Amino acid sequence: MFTLAQETPSDWWEVEALFDLAFAPGRSALSSYRLRDDVAPVAALCRLARDEAGTLGGAIRYWPVRVGPHDVLLLGPVAVHPIAQGEGLGAALIRDTTARAAEQGHARILLVGDAPYYGRFGFERLEGVEMPPPTNPDRILGLPLYLGAWDGVTGEVTRAA
Ligand SMILES: CC(C)(COP(=O)(O)OP(=O)(O)OC[C@H]1O[C@@H](n2cnc3c(N)ncnc32)[C@H](O)[C@@H]1OP(=O)(O)O)[C@@H](O)C(=O)NCCC(=O)NCCS
Repeated sequence: MFTLAQETPSDWWEVEALFDLAFAPGRSALSSYRLRDDVAPVAALCRLARDEAGTLGGAIRYWPVRVGPHDVLLLGPVAVHPIAQGEGLGAALIRDTTARAAEQGHARILLVGDAPYYGRFGFERLEGVEMPPPTNPDRILGLPLYLGAWDGVTGEVTRAA
């Protein structure tokens, strides 16, 4: 059994190590990471899952970004340890945090990822939202946290100042 909790500052490097394990080398060279440079993550939405022994099974982080004048949450990275994948932990982290984001009054979530996975959580391809290149437009996905929250929200994704 895994328990979800908010990430604390002392968890940071353990979570980084999990992301290094789960992703291809050089993940921080991806253009989406430039949106995170020198910007603090949204602490209340950075959550992790530990088992009874305290072993880290998965983690998710969010950053604030902007699309034009609009505030947007950037979901990611999210990763589950290879030995725990396929058991619903990724889904649990995503459902827990998207629900919390809505409760906390956020309007919309953006991510760069696989539509076949994120579609089950309600994410859909966004038209007219441009991530820093090179990003495959088919992987730019959004979730509205209230009806119509992405309507008219288009343009370049930029760092939150
Ligand atoms: C993607 C990830 C977070 C999903 O977490 P998980 O706990 O393994 O996934 P869940 O148990 O919630 O869901 C499993 C289902 O998702 C599917 N799935 C997992 N990754 C997928 C992907 N990239 N594309 C499409 N489907 C995917 C599985 O095939 C499985 O399908 P099923 O329900 O029909 O059997 C995890 O596999 C992971 O850490 N992968 C490596 C890092 C990564 O790619 N992160 C996401 C970056 S966009």
